[in-house]
This record gives sequence, C-alpha cells and structure tokens, in this order.
Amino acid sequence: MGILIDAMKNRKSVRTFSNKKLDESIIDKIKKYIKDVDNPFGIKIDIRFLNAKENGLISPVISGEEYYLAQKVERQDNYDLASGYSFEKVCIYAKTLGLGTVMLASTMNRSTFEKVIDVKDNEVMFVVSPIGYESNKRTMVESLLRKSINADTRLPYEKIFFDKNFDNGIKSLDGNTLKDLLEVIQKAPSAKNCQPWRIVIDDNKIHFYEYQTIKTRPIGDIQRFDMGIALAHFDMARSECNIEGIYSFENPNIENNMDLQYVITFNLK
Ligand SMILES: Cc1cc2nc3c(=O)[nH]c(=O)nc-3n(C[C@H](O)[C@H](O)[C@H](O)COP(=O)(O)O)c2cc1C
Repeated sequence: MGILIDAMKNRKSVRTFSNKKLDESIIDKIKKYIKDVDNPFGIKIDIRFLNAKENGLISPVISGEEYYLAQKVERQDNYDLASGYSFEKVCIYAKTLGLGTVMLASTMNRSTFEKVIDVKDNEVMFVVSPIGYESNKRTMVESLLRKSINADTRLPYEKIFFDKNFDNGIKSLDGNTLKDLLEVIQKAPSAKNCQPWRIVIDDNKIHFYEYQTIKTRPIGDIQRFDMGIALAHFDMARSECNIEGIYSFENPNIENNMDLQYVITFNLK
C-alpha cells in the first residue's frame, strides 16, 4: 500500500495534542508543502502556518496545541472545492509526518483567526486546523464530541457508491479496480461527519454528486468543501495506483429523489 493511501485509511481527527514543539526542520517541510500544494481548479489557496500562543488562537474543543493552519481563498467558481482539496492534501501530508490535525469550521474563535490572516471582503476562510503531535489520551471533551457525531462510523458503500444510476448501490468493492480510490473517499473527514458524497460509476466516467444537508452559510456551502476533500482523497489514491484521467463538468442528469447536486465528473483514461 502506498504511503498516502495508508495515511488516508488510518487517519482520524485529532483534538488533543501533547504540547510538544515541532522541530524547525518539520515546520520547514510543512511550509514548503503548503507553498506548492495544488488543486485541479488552478485556484490559489493561501494556507498559513501559525503559532497558537503568539496569535492568541484557541478552540474550545482543542487542547495542548502549539500551532494552527488556517486558509483563505478569493471567492470565485469552485473556490469551495479547491479549498477542501488543497487543505486536505496538507492534512494528509501532516499525517505522513506523524502529525495530527482536525478541520474546524465552527468550534473556534473565527473572528480572531480571520483577523490574524487578514481575510478581505472578497475572501473566505472555510476552516482552520491545529497541527502537532497527538497526546496519548483524549480529553473528555474530545471523546464526548466524537460520540455525539458518530465520528467512528461511516455510511456503507451502497449508500455512497452507485453503478450507473442511483438505484444500484454498490455493496462490495472486492475485485473493483477502483477499490483503493473509493475506500479512501469513504474514510474522508466531513463537517459533522455528514459524508455528503454520492458517486455514480458509469463505465469510464465517475460522476460526483453532493447530498447537501447543512444549510449554506455566508462563507458558502461547507459540504462543497467536503466534496473537495473527497476529490483530494480520490486523486492521492489515483497517483499511487497510477490511474489516469481528467476532470470535466458534464452533468449527466441522472435521476434521483434526494435532490442531489451534480459536482464534477472524472473521466478515466
Ligand atoms: C469542513 C469540516 C468542518 C469541520 N468542523 C469541525 C468543527 O467545527 N469542530 C470539530 O470538532 N470538528 C469539526 N470537523 C471534524 C469532523 O467532525 C470529523 O471529520 C468527522 O466527525 C469524522 O471524524 P474523523 O475525522 O475522525 O474521521 C470538521 C470537519 C470538516 C471536514
């Protein structure tokens, strides 16, 4: 198994940190990765590595953290997908370095973070994340929070992966050439663990749909940010499995009774 697939399969959000400082060499690696991180939309995502104490950054659900990541992006088409994509790539990279993260869209002092990274009127900060070494024991707050949103559970395959249309849920991925790519989508983090991704595989076309259950906020639709995370997982697994292709927007208008919103199509080579 490749290092990224391994990291995606074994990832979990971390909210309790060990107060251990990061070596300068690790901080440099993260900053370099952030500088070069891409997304399929060619949109620049401004991601900052911040010292928590120096900037007065805190969250009621996080403890023992020394550093945060925060992002901002200019409003434009697909700014939400691109933000989720690039930010998750950084989180998975952090995991390969032995570091924990958790995306926070609500439980942090948003206005302080926005001020520190100077979010302008035409810009949006979707999430921030603490980054550091995981403590060996979770706080009670973290344990209760994970329980309350069923953070350890995921929808079964047949509720998220479909063959040709939404009536044919895929029950097993055994023998499926896309097994690793789909498995890591199921493991992806999402706001309130709602897992909005619904994916139809029609021969060489993979259509991504969103099942929106969280209302759009002033920053935008946080579940399109989640969709960007799913695309990042799909692409990181693709790169390790050498599965090539290109993205396109060509809504196949597949009938469904859940008011699903079409997002994007991946065309396998
Ligand atoms: C866009 C986004 C926003 C999130 N916002 C918060 C948040 O405000 N507070 C929090 O404690 N967790 C937040 N989370 C973490 C999710 O609750 C978590 O990913 C989910 O419960 C699944 O758990 P896991 O990441 O450990 O697999 C967020 C995750 C995402 C992707």
